[in-house]
Amino acid sequence: MKNRFVLFISVLALSFAGAGTVFANQEGFLSDIHIKNGLDCNSCHEGKPKKEAGIQACLDCHGGYDGMYEKTKALHINPHDAHEGDIECNECHKSHSTSIDYCASCHSFDFKVP
Ligand code: HEC
Ligand code: HEC
Ligand code: HEC
Ligand code: HEC
Repeated sequence: MKNRFVLFISVLALSFAGAGTVFANQEGFLSDIHIKNGLDCNSCHEGKPKKEAGIQACLDCHGGYDGMYEKTKALHINPHDAHEGDIECNECHKSHSTSIDYCASCHSFDFKVP
């Protein structure tokens, strides 16, 4: 709940700043949450982080698609159980910007994506 509030404030701050740069304020975004948990840029990026990171690191740390399916299977609708097959993590989870509810293009489950 706290994270969601922080995220909301960050988005607000970003829009007020009219920031062209994604890195103006990372507070509350997924990258920042990871760094607060002891990770660094290279936990997700190989070498110097200039370009987008892939999702292999996400899969390695979070137990892959099967691991994520297990972790959230108690929810009423499991966001990690997609009938469209394995959907890449960052279709929903954005590391440096507001995350997206990929399923919302067809459903209204109203997922809060961290
Ligand atoms: C949790 C994993 C993760 C961490 C930690 C992380 N990144 Fe990223 N980064 C990504 C992903 C995934 C993308 C692709 C865009 C997205 O999903 O937000 C990305 C995109 C980027 C981009 C390309 C942005 C663009 O729009 O082209 C840069 C530059 C970058 N990261 C730098 C950094 C730096 C510097 C750090 C450390 C302060 C960092 N990243 C930490 C996962 C991460
Ligand atoms: C080096 C290991 C590592 C990598 C790589 C990594 N994570 Fe994480 N992730 C963690 C840890 C540790 C936490 C904090 C503890 C937890 O919530 O499991 C976390 C937390 C999360 C959370 C929960 C955040 C919250 O607010 O509760 C999400 C979502 C997440 N990671 C997605 C991703 C995605 C997407 C990627 C790839 C872009 C990624 N992770 C890469 C280790 C990793
Ligand atoms: C369709 C959108 C979507 C996709 C794709 C997705 N997630 Fe998630 N993820 C969510 C939602 C929504 C939640 C919040 C679930 C909840 O309400 O507890 C979540 C929660 C998480 C959490 C926190 C779980 C917890 O209970 O601590 C982690 C870690 C995570 N996702 C990692 C991943 C990884 C790794 C991938 C790629 C293999 C991935 N997610 C793909 C939507 C998605
Ligand atoms: C391109 C559109 C589309 C997307 C994107 C999509 N779905 Fe669906 N989904 C459907 C259709 C069509 C049905 C069948 C509806 C029916 O039979 O009533 C369905 C049915 C379902 C059902 C069973 C019926 C229900 O509403 O309870 C679940 C659960 C579900 N989808 C979950 C997801 C999740 C989770 C995601 C995101 C990872 C997702 N869907 C993304 C189109 C989509």
